[in-house]
Formats: sequence, structure tokens, C-alpha cells
Amino acid sequence: MKPLVVANWKMNPPTITKAKELFALVKKELRNNNRVEVVICPPLPYLSVIKGHSQNIKLGAQNCFWEKTGAYTGGVSPLMLKDLGCQYVIVGHSETRINFGETDEMINKKIRTIIEVKLKPILCIGETERERKEGKTNLVITRGIEKALAGIQFEVVDLNIAYEPVWAIGTGNLCNPQMAREARLLIKEKMEKLFGFAAAKDIRILYGGSVDGENAKSFIEEAGFEGLLVGGASLNPLKFGAIVNSISLN
Ligand code: PGA
Repeated sequence: MKPLVVANWKMNPPTITKAKELFALVKKELRNNNRVEVVICPPLPYLSVIKGHSQNIKLGAQNCFWEKTGAYTGGVSPLMLKDLGCQYVIVGHSETRINFGETDEMINKKIRTIIEVKLKPILCIGETERERKEGKTNLVITRGIEKALAGIQFEVVDLNIAYEPVWAIGTGNLCNPQMAREARLLIKEKMEKLFGFAAAKDIRILYGGSVDGENAKSFIEEAGFEGLLVGGASLNPLKFGAIVNSISLN
């Protein structure tokens, strides 16, 4: 299984022209990459522009609604995302939880539909600074996973989990690889309990939070993650290229 590197462009860049330019530069930086699976998650309006230009770069969405069609003003369904060429959907990012009031129950419903239409969820889990200080990190991770995946049976476990300590997102406050390693092991154990040892081995666990070209390798080699979720640095083609290339050389 290849490592997975996901670029979360968040609500950037501001225009379609700039999105096309960014994508062209990213593609150029990644032209020699064949050892890492790369997924770009642009804002929704740019998906159709980037579709068809992607070649060995896959497409993902940053969010979705949980119904396939219907009277849900403002909603975008997993079915529509699939039709646009997406293969992955980020669910439960701390920014969608905070800014759009996304709850564990909503996340569970989204994951069910994403799986039903045969897209691959990237479930984000992570503790806030306060929760870590209060010693609740393990509880937040295990409860978050239990609630997000409640009642979900996998025929084939096509699931990715991103451990993203909220205090490390967009802050430059790096989670040290040892701390991240402990969180990864906890997630791994939880997955084995929920889905069995054989199925859990195919679940990729990603690290996210202030990843850059300097630290990317340590999360793969020291902390044992199977991939990375990259925000800020994914908007800089050189930095993003450096991240992908730093882990593809092994
Ligand atoms: P960051 O964002 O790399 O800018 O910290 C990560 C994320 O939000 O997924």
C-alpha cells in the first residue's frame, strides 16, 4: 500500500484562475512521483475545473451532506462528488465541526452515505489543547471513532483516519512524533477491535497539523503513519512537492 498524502486547500485560492495555476504548478512538482498516492481537495466550485486535468493526482472533497438528493438547500451530496470525479471525502475536520456545527451524529450519517456510493472517507479526529492538558486525549480519540463509525459495517474497509491534534492545525505548533505515534497506536488498536485484525491492516492512518517538507518524514518513519493531511503547505507547490518527495524516497 502506498502512503497517502492529502492536500486540503480549505477555502483557497480565491479565484478559479488561481486554482488552475496552483494545480498546474503542483502537477509539475509531482511529475516524477509514483510512490505516493496524492489526493487534492480543492473548494467544491473548483472540482469540475480540476477534473480531467488530474492524471496521477486524485480528487477529494472537504465536506459533503449525508443525503444523495433532495430538498437540502446548500447541500452537496456524495453522489454528486462521485460524478465530479472525486474518490475521497474529508469528514469531521475540526474546522467543519467548529464553523458549521458538524456533530458526531452528522459525521456518522455522512460516512454511511460516502461508503454507500463507494467513495472513501477520510475521518478526522483530534483533541484540543485543553483536552490534552486535561489528560483527555485518548478518550477524545476513542469516543470520536466510536461515534463516527457507530453501526457501520465494512465489506471492504476503505477507510482513512487522520489524527489531527486541533492545537497543531495551522499554528506551527508541531506535535512531536512520539506523541503522534501514541495516538496512531491507539487508533490502530481501536480499529482492530472494531473491524478485526485483518481488515484493520488496510486502514491508513494519516497525521495532520503543521506538516511541512522538514517534518513530513518524521511522521512516516518515526511515528509510523501511513500518510499525511496537509493544509497550509499544500498551497505552496514547492513545499507540497518537498513533502511528497521526502516520503517517496524511501
Ligand atoms: P495545516 O492544516 O497543515 O495548515 O496545519 C492541516 C489541516 O487542517 O488538515
